Amino acid sequence: MSKVGFCAFVCLLFVCCCCFCCSKAMPTKVNQEAVNGRPVIGILTQLVSDEVMKPFGRTYIPASYVKYIESGGSRVMPIKLTHTTAEYEDIFRKINGLIFIGGAVDLEASDYARVAKIFYRLALTANDAGDFFPIWGTCMGMQLLTVLVAGENLLTNTTAENIALPLNLTEEAHSSRMFEGFPSDLMKALTQEPLTGNFHHYGVTLKTFEENEKLQSFFSILSTNVAENDARFVSTIEGKRYPFYGVQWHPEVNRFQWSSKLNFPHSFNAVRLSSLLAEFFVNEGRRSLHQFDNPEEEASSLIYNYTPVFAGNFTGYEQIYFF
Ligand SMILES: *[C@@H]1O[C@H](CO)[C@@H](O)[C@H](O)[C@H]1NC(C)=O
Ligand SMILES: *[C@@H]1O[C@H](CO)[C@@H](O)[C@H](O)[C@H]1NC(C)=O
Ligand SMILES: *[C@@H]1O[C@H](CO)[C@@H](O)[C@H](O)[C@H]1NC(C)=O
Repeated sequence: MSKVGFCAFVCLLFVCCCCFCCSKAMPTKVNQEAVNGRPVIGILTQLVSDEVMKPFGRTYIPASYVKYIESGGSRVMPIKLTHTTAEYEDIFRKINGLIFIGGAVDLEASDYARVAKIFYRLALTANDAGDFFPIWGTCMGMQLLTVLVAGENLLTNTTAENIALPLNLTEEAHSSRMFEGFPSDLMKALTQEPLTGNFHHYGVTLKTFEENEKLQSFFSILSTNVAENDARFVSTIEGKRYPFYGVQWHPEVNRFQWSSKLNFPHSFNAVRLSSLLAEFFVNEGRRSLHQFDNPEEEASSLIYNYTPVFAGNFTGYEQIYFF
């Protein structure tokens, strides 16, 4: 890994932060019997902000997120930022869940934020109508969820850059959906071992979260952590009424990123954590019965139509899909 590569990964997350910077009762009982054994999870492509990546495309998805979702038993559809609202509505009726990945963009004014908001609103309406649709936000994706729910940007400096941490789990974590299938030894390890990779400068503090009526009523806080400046930030959230989840840390890196310059947790428990969360989210996707109009349309929409680029010599990622 070159020094440039190291910077690319770090700067990416740094800029992200400069720009603005997860109850068991579910809304719907409908579809509870039906199970979709062939889910397709959408991953919203991220805007390239790093100079070294610009020659390859305007948007990208690190392959680690794709492998993570595939490892849970789902296929992936990359969602570009160039469609019309009507086209996004159409895509929404076909996919079974959505991921907002990390990155480095403005969470209110960028194309990324604009498209995310369209899907967020569609998902609220669908879930309200008994049409189950899960959303997961990782790192900046979780920050984005807080902006969408609060209707304002509440991020402040909660720097935890290139550090693996245990989680300070709340009581609610133990009755959460996200951690429901976790063996008790892993729950214990989660609070004692550094299993979660952090690469962020901004986040929502516990105080801000608790004082914000919208965030407080929408999400249960499942964990907190302490930043380098001693601010206690919210690190894991789960929707009370909606199947929306957020982690300020990066579960995909535990199994699918290997830069030796970055503190990616690769222990047995770190790998179990990553596996169980991927399986959990994909299983949420199995509760969605959205589908493509025909097999040809489905085939042409999937990530298999794209080839990742080897990027281990100029970024902190081994492989990246560019669009
Ligand atoms: C965990 O977080 C709570 C606040 O939610 C705090 O009171 C407690 O001291 C923290 N525990 C550790 C070990 O940091
Ligand atoms: C955030 O806080 C850390 C630790 O106190 C400090 O080193 C850093 O410069 C701060 N970053 C910003 C963007 O204010
Ligand atoms: C990275 O490696 C690829 C092939 O291994 C090579 O074509 C490319 O020029 C390298 N990029 C940099 C920035 O070194």
